[in-house]
Amino acid sequence: MTRFQPLRGIARFYYSAAPSGGRREAGVEKMIKPYYDEDGITIYNADCRDVLRELATERFDAVITDPPFAFAGGISNGLASRADSQFFEAWLEVVFREMQRVSKHEAAWALWCDWRTAAIYDEVLGKSAADYYDQRRVSQVLIHDREMVGMGSPFRNQLDWIALVRGKKTDFGDRIPKNQPNIIRSYWYYGKHEFHPAEKSTKVAGMLIDWLTKPGDTILEPFLGGGAVLVAARAAGRKAVAIELEKGYCDVTIERLQQHSLFATV
Ligand SMILES: C[S@@+](CC[C@H](N)C(=O)[O-])C[C@H]1O[C@@H](n2cnc3c(N)ncnc32)[C@H](O)[C@@H]1O
Repeated sequence: MTRFQPLRGIARFYYSAAPSGGRREAGVEKMIKPYYDEDGITIYNADCRDVLRELATERFDAVITDPPFAFAGGISNGLASRADSQFFEAWLEVVFREMQRVSKHEAAWALWCDWRTAAIYDEVLGKSAADYYDQRRVSQVLIHDREMVGMGSPFRNQLDWIALVRGKKTDFGDRIPKNQPNIIRSYWYYGKHEFHPAEKSTKVAGMLIDWLTKPGDTILEPFLGGGAVLVAARAAGRKAVAIELEKGYCDVTIERLQQHSLFATV
């Protein structure tokens, strides 16, 4: 018996009820009511596992998101091993399967992470991609040098990691400059917690959007938090569907989107 056996059992039941591959058509996205739906931006206040399975197959041009990786079995304390992340891996497999299904074949993903979760993402992709032709994998890691120290011991962390996930058909066109390094140096005062305890830079989110999508494309953001990706998406003229468990963070994001509409700045 593998360590994933119990969850695979549940997953098998779930997937037998909704077999993968072309199982959702556009137009059936009415089961869960959006919390916000304006000007091409939709927010659901729910568990992303419930919403994702209602979304149409091959709907999204990119996934840009920041999963709750710091809680992956306590791995953020710097002392836990991979064995402690079993629950996170099993949970992530369900999420990634649906993300694979709702992504267009050419869609790339950008997922914030740390050095452990980059490896976990890749391993879970190997499992969840089994049913999918695209065979997405973590192909590179981008490093955001925040130019300011954050938490961490004995060394203070100054880096955010972003896993770049792509598949057989992913094509970035000429959107990523030829000499673009995988280090983004951009000041980010980590810890100001203005909108969310794990708040990310809208500037960096905007770079990811420019590299992974074209104007008019639709982005999936299943772990919205305080809304950095949505604020950047609106500024860049992209459509987006976002999901967040906590109503308070949906409200924070809506307020930021409204501010953005008023002042048209990120
Ligand atoms: C790392 S934070 C995202 C922070 C965001 N990038 C920002 O700049 O504010 C992850 C978010 O995912 C939400 N979350 C966790 N599990 C979820 C789930 N199953 N479905 C939807 N949202 C979830 C958490 O409430 C949290 O706000």
